[in-house]
Amino acid sequence: MEKKKTPKRSGGIGSRLAISVFSIVFVSLIGSASTQTDQPTTEDTVFSFAEIINSVLPSETPESLSQIVLQYKDDAVVDGGQRLYMSHCATCHGINLQGAPNWHRRNAAGYLPAPPHDETGHTWHHRDQLLFDLTKHGPQVVAGSDYKTHMPAFEGILSDEEIVAVLSYIKSTWPEEIIRIHNEQINQN
Ligand code: HEC
Repeated sequence: MEKKKTPKRSGGIGSRLAISVFSIVFVSLIGSASTQTDQPTTEDTVFSFAEIINSVLPSETPESLSQIVLQYKDDAVVDGGQRLYMSHCATCHGINLQGAPNWHRRNAAGYLPAPPHDETGHTWHHRDQLLFDLTKHGPQVVAGSDYKTHMPAFEGILSDEEIVAVLSYIKSTWPEEIIRIHNEQINQN
């Protein structure tokens, strides 16, 4: 697997990136220990996640999109989000959010299968804002325009409110402990 080198950054951003990568790997370890899943939590998983995260610069998030908060406790939002999930996401990510088989392995052409959105995947390793940006603009928004992916950009297909709703539905399905870590650690980074 190709592993991107983290480009050299000037002090502040570099160390902030290092801290966030560290805390995400740390949270992954907690996650795999506490969820007791059979899913392989291989280095591949961490790498594919790190590939994306390594390319994130805080300054790349447009100001206007910096206030996203998922409404996972709002039943009306979650119900609407579930309908949108079934019509727009389930074919790839699974009707039970289970993802595609072997989702952490790139195929020969270099594409990843769709990952799960349940607690066995790494969707919950990303803060609300990043989930929104990934869904609206596609993974290229953080991984670079030449990144090969089957994940569509939903801008022009779903409104911002609909993207928040579908992600709120996804978050509402996570176990309590994962939601707690997401709120207290991931969203604080
Ligand atoms: C055509 C298939 C397809 C559809 C439809 C699709 N996705 Fe994806 N999605 C993918 C693939 C493949 C990836 C892995 C991205 C990569 O290539 O690194 C992905 C990744 C993601 C990620 C990043 C997850 C992570 O762990 O980093 C999010 C968030 C996401 N999708 C949300 C959605 C949402 C929300 C919908 C519906 C509105 C949706 N996707 C519809 C294929 C799809």
